[in-house]
Amino acid sequence: SCNVSGFRDEASVKHFSFYINKPANPGLDINIISTNDRGFGFAIYQQRVRSGEIFITRVSPNSVIFEIQSLQRGDEGDYDCSHDFPCLFLLCDLVIDDSLSVSSPASTSLSFNEGEALTLTCQASSNTIQHTHLSFAWYLQRDGEDDARPVISLDRDFTLRPGRGFEARYQAGLVRLDKLGEATYRLKVSQLELSDQGKIHCQAQEWIQDPDRSWYPIATKDVKPDSLSLAVRILAQHTALQEGQELLLSCSIDTSNLEGSFFSVAFLREGVELARIGPTGVLSVGPEYSGRENQGELRAARTGSRDYRLILRPVRTEDQGEYKCRVWPEERGLDGVFTRGASQDSSSQLVSISATDSGLSVKMQDAASVAEGDRLRLACEVEGVKGRLTVAWQYKSSSTPAALFTNVIGLSQEGVIEETEEFRSRGARATRPAANVFVFELDEVKLSDSGVYQCAVSEWNTNSKVHSQSQAAAVTVTPLDTKVVLISRNNKASVGDDVDIMCRIRGPHIPVTVTWSLQRDAATLDNILTVYADGAVSWSFSQHHYQLKVEKQNQQVIHYLQIVGASQREAGKYQCSVSVFLHNVHKKLSQSNQVAVVVENPESELALSSPPVLKTNVNMDISIACSIISKVSVSSLYAVTWELQQDGTNKTIARSDRHAAVTFGPQFEENQRQRISMIRTKGRGFELTVRQVTSTDGGIYVCKVEEWLQDPRGDWYLLTTVSRASKLTVIEPEPNLLLVKQEGELNVSLSQNFMIPCHIARQSSNESRFQVTWFWQKQAESERPIFTVHRNSTFQQSLRFDLRFDHPLPNQFSVTVLKPNPEKSGTYFCEVEEWLPSPSGWRRAAVDRSGELIVRVSHAEAVSGCNSAVWIAVVVIILILLIAVVVLLMVKICRGKMSGGKKAGQSLWAEQHALKPSGGD
Ligand SMILES: *[C@@H]1O[C@H](CO)[C@@H](O)[C@H](O)[C@H]1NC(C)=O
Ligand SMILES: *[C@@H]1O[C@H](CO)[C@@H](O)[C@H](O)[C@H]1NC(C)=O
Ligand SMILES: *[C@@H]1O[C@H](CO)[C@@H](O)[C@H](O)[C@H]1NC(C)=O
Ligand SMILES: *[C@@H]1O[C@H](CO)[C@@H](O)[C@H](O)[C@H]1NC(C)=O
Repeated sequence: SCNVSGFRDEASVKHFSFYINKPANPGLDINIISTNDRGFGFAIYQQRVRSGEIFITRVSPNSVIFEIQSLQRGDEGDYDCSHDFPCLFLLCDLVIDDSLSVSSPASTSLSFNEGEALTLTCQASSNTIQHTHLSFAWYLQRDGEDDARPVISLDRDFTLRPGRGFEARYQAGLVRLDKLGEATYRLKVSQLELSDQGKIHCQAQEWIQDPDRSWYPIATKDVKPDSLSLAVRILAQHTALQEGQELLLSCSIDTSNLEGSFFSVAFLREGVELARIGPTGVLSVGPEYSGRENQGELRAARTGSRDYRLILRPVRTEDQGEYKCRVWPEERGLDGVFTRGASQDSSSQLVSISATDSGLSVKMQDAASVAEGDRLRLACEVEGVKGRLTVAWQYKSSSTPAALFTNVIGLSQEGVIEETEEFRSRGARATRPAANVFVFELDEVKLSDSGVYQCAVSEWNTNSKVHSQSQAAAVTVTPLDTKVVLISRNNKASVGDDVDIMCRIRGPHIPVTVTWSLQRDAATLDNILTVYADGAVSWSFSQHHYQLKVEKQNQQVIHYLQIVGASQREAGKYQCSVSVFLHNVHKKLSQSNQVAVVVENPESELALSSPPVLKTNVNMDISIACSIISKVSVSSLYAVTWELQQDGTNKTIARSDRHAAVTFGPQFEENQRQRISMIRTKGRGFELTVRQVTSTDGGIYVCKVEEWLQDPRGDWYLLTTVSRASKLTVIEPEPNLLLVKQEGELNVSLSQNFMIPCHIARQSSNESRFQVTWFWQKQAESERPIFTVHRNSTFQQSLRFDLRFDHPLPNQFSVTVLKPNPEKSGTYFCEVEEWLPSPSGWRRAAVDRSGELIVRVSHAEAVSGCNSAVWIAVVVIILILLIAVVVLLMVKICRGKMSGGKKAGQSLWAEQHALKPSGGD
């Protein structure tokens, strides 16, 4: 993209051209494309421009984008974009901002002797965005001539040309123009000639090139250095003085043009300004001398149109040296504001000042080093005093070496303290403990108090100062440097032991605050206690477990921390840290290393014994003993947990804690719990009793015994856990199943029910459960199950039979075949499976069969071998009964006419067509 800016007319469309400068041909711009001219591009680009491969897109009146859509190898190079002016430059200065600036620093002395050298500089620069060139020239307007003529010039094509009349001196190297840096043009005339007298100025011109390649100037600037010449002279009334006498310096100005001129005049000693008199006569005194002006020791004034005067009285020995005065011409503008011209110095005037024979001498240490926060004390000893003394304590910062002494605090003749606000609030003190000793004290020094402190002692005679003497001391405030080391001799302790930790602090000579902390784990850091600078102790933890001792030694202070009767709670990483309370804030200074204190529990000797193998029969009670065979500690408490391992899974049976409170494991159901009891045998052992053992009670019984001890704080802690296992085998009962084996034969008539009993004579266990199946075998056919009662009391009928199941007693089962037909004839029997519980579930222990019952069902109705006489008797009795019943009914009906009828009774067999167990479990 290519943008232009700086046009007054932002909205008008600007034109752009793009060039390439190929590496093979540096310096040769090859035209590519222009917004203004279709034929702009060189032949090698015209085809690509016409085909639209290279084009310019306008973004705004001031911005375009140049694009090549398909780059070729030859497109490598430096691309340039230029803004095309739509008009001739001379006519379109409207679009070019005036950015040429030319300036000339006030020149040095402009009054020269013939043969002297002249050097003048001018600054000229332009900041247009257009590509412009500058031309530059120095001109001289000779006295008496109207026109200025060029001395030497630098053309816009960077060629140097001497002016007419200066060619020979240029060739001889006596006239030079040098361009220094970007914008400085220096004229040097090595040997001035009388004809050079006049006004010299510099001129810069800015040029721009038209597309037709011709150059046009777009701006011209002149700067005329002031041709005023001035000379300054200094004069001392006396150049050799004695301490206390008066130094009088006069300064006079010589100038060709005094009329209406203004000056600033300054007096300097060794380059340091004492006083300056402004163009309107206002005096200003240099900061180092303001004190003396205040005391009336320094005065300066303009004494005539060209004369200035400085008086110092009394002079001090330190006032001797080279004095100069410096003059600046001041030009008053129409607005009354002065513009200062180049300064002109006088020559130097040496003034020497000898000390009088005053015996006053001041002594102080040269240097002092004091730790931050400590007290600074400086003593200044005075000797040879004749009059009365005052002292001023002064301070000069060391961070700014050029800074001046400022008063800190002073003692007047009457002993009154004069102090500055800043040091008053800091509690600075000036005292005079003896007639000849002055002391300065400052508490809690800061790092920034480093610097030079001076005691300036003045001797007074009546009301005038006779002598002054001062001594300076360099004071270094050293940062608080503390070294804190934590040591422990026995950092591995047993519960109950005492542990000593020592915090050794080498460092500031000021009282410090020491904080002890304990880090028990990565997350928690607790303060144990703080020992304040004033000796007060504040405890964050229980005080009973620690003792503290502080021992001050020569170079160090040792804080001892004793852990009294260590417990696990005191284990962890200890650290001490040091802070100070300085200038009303707590300042952390240093932290010690960490010392880890490990508290070890005592060794436990707990050992157990329990029978490794146990066997029992079902239904028996079994006790598993687990005894402590080691020495029993009287201070220990024991907890026991009984566990049962079966088929790889662990179940907690019950736990008796160290206070003998019993809890059952969650997997143990209430009915099982009633069979279990735990006892302790006189502190020595533990016994688990399981009553009426079932075959599911087999497994590995583990007793886990925990030993608990009390630490010095009274907290119980687990010392150790020891386990012992006993394997219990439950001896299964021998299979012992026997069914009643009665064989039988039964002739039944059609529809006469018959029962097939299944009675168990003997069973293996009274936990047994039975599965009973009745079979039927028809003549030569194979036996077939009819009906099964499962262990879970569900029934399964396998053949179409009308049956009734009965289970009157735990060992008695039967089915009754209802309304049989001759088809149901055959052999019937039952088979019983006996199931017993085992640790892994139920198992089939035995199988037995009953005797066989052969049943024949005849076609005849229920008639059989009774004799006919019996039958006749029976019929007669029935008839008599029937008549009796009829008679009774008739009597009832006659009565029933008044009382209503009676319902007939239900059939006894009404429910027996369906299978209904009438007994069982
Ligand atoms: C020109 O101006 C556009 C839009 O203001 C800007 O995105 C682009 O970066 C500029 N290009 C240059 C070379 O400054
Ligand atoms: C049953 O009937 C058969 C012949 O049908 C006979 O041989 C048998 O003795 C009878 N049994 C009884 C107990 O009456
Ligand atoms: C189980 O049978 C035994 C005799 O073998 C008897 O002493 C015991 O009481 C019976 N237990 C139950 C629960 O019926
Ligand atoms: C009862 O036991 C039998 C045989 O073991 C089984 O087929 C049947 O699903 C069981 N019924 C129930 C309700 O558990």
